[in-house]
Parts: sequence; C-alpha cells; structure tokens
Amino acid sequence: MVDDLARAKVAAARHAVERYVRPGERIALGHGSTANEAIRALAARFPKSPFDCVAASRATEEFARSLGVPVRPLRGDDRFRLMLDGADEVSPSLDLTKGGGGALLREKLLARLSDELVILVDPTKLVSSLGERHRIPLEVVPFARSAVEHAVARRGYRAHLRRSPDGRPFHTDNGNEILDLAPSRPITDPAAEDRALSDLTGVVETGLFVGLARRVVVGYPDGHVEERERPPLPTS
Ligand code: A5P
Repeated sequence: MVDDLARAKVAAARHAVERYVRPGERIALGHGSTANEAIRALAARFPKSPFDCVAASRATEEFARSLGVPVRPLRGDDRFRLMLDGADEVSPSLDLTKGGGGALLREKLLARLSDELVILVDPTKLVSSLGERHRIPLEVVPFARSAVEHAVARRGYRAHLRRSPDGRPFHTDNGNEILDLAPSRPITDPAAEDRALSDLTGVVETGLFVGLARRVVVGYPDGHVEERERPPLPTS
C-alpha cells in the first residue's frame, strides 16, 4: 500500500512537470512528500535549467537545494507562473484541505501569488466534502491558542493541538502552533467556514484552500494519471 501510494505520487508529479513546466520559469514549490516528488522530477528533467524558485517551507528549500534546484527568498513583487503542491483532501469542486505538513500559511500565500496552482495527489486524497478524512489545520498564535479552542468548539469543532514526535507542541516555520479541527458535521460551504475561522483573533491562517486550485492531477499506482480542471471564471 505504501509503495502503491508512492508510485501514484511519482506518476502525478512526473506528469505535471512534463506537461506544465517550461525551463527557466518562476515557480513556487509546496511542501510534503508529493511536492518533493515534483522537485525530484524537475531536477531530473531539467538538470541544468536556471529555474527561479521560492519554497513554502525550510524543509522544501533544503530538499530542492540538495537536488541542485535553486531556491531564493520571497520578494515583494513576486508573481509565479506556476505552483506545484500536494494536498490532504480534494473536494469535487477542487477545494482543498492542506497543512498536514504544517506549511499552510506559506503555501496559501504562494498559491495566491501564482497564476496557476497545480495540485498533485494520489487517489486517497479525493473526498466528497472537506474534513471527511482529514482534520482542518488552523495556524494559531501560541498566546491565543486556548481562546481559539474555545471559539471553534462553539462552531462545532473539536480542536487537537498538533504535537512533535517529542510530545511538545509542533511549531511552524513561522513560530506558531497548529490546531487540527475535527468537524462535527460535513463542511458544506468551505468558503464561509474559511472566512469564519479566519475572522477569529489569534488565527493566522486556515488549511481550507477555496477556489485556489486551477488543476488537480491524480496519479495512480499503475502510472496512469487523471486531470481535473476548475472551469474558468465567467468574464463579465
Ligand atoms: C503541507 O503543509 C501540506 O499542505 C501538504 O501539501 C499535504 O500535507 C500533502 O502532503 P503529502 O504530499 O505528503 O501527502
């Protein structure tokens, strides 16, 4: 099963790099095992190409550099042609749950600065509604954590403080903590939920990525892939 999932991620990553990446582009790199497969595919396909990349986490930055993919800090006027990233859940309308790896804030910022967010997943990430298989991560300021726990309980969430393997609270690259929210009912309006959670004082970002993914590439263990695309916004 683990090998199956690994093969599925590799299939999605290779396909996306072959199809959507051109040498020399400015690219945003996400975080996680599938994003790492995309970086591996990038390094293998364009070994000498001078990509201009910014990464969503220190871990991604180190991994990319170790494979010879250059990564630089974010600049104020940055726009990316493309962002390649994984996800924890993908709904039928291509809304996402992200942040299983704790990089949600930087991932969301880079996604918003990208012309096209391409999400790479294995089929276990496909759900009928967000929160179905994965808790919703919230990045919170440590001082505000207990107040946020109380506030989200009133909205029907059970909050679990994310911990590191040593048992201490997990800290993001931004020095914040993560509350993983278990919803008591299916999330039927993720945009409204995202707004309500974001409005709580002390919440830095939510793991609900609504309307951001343009395209989702689903990889399968036998190597085939399937693409899902969000219809373009109507022009007025
Ligand atoms: C990182 O914070 C997340 O948003 C990841 O994109 C997500 O957890 C998917 O990770 P995998 O690709 O490792 O499954």
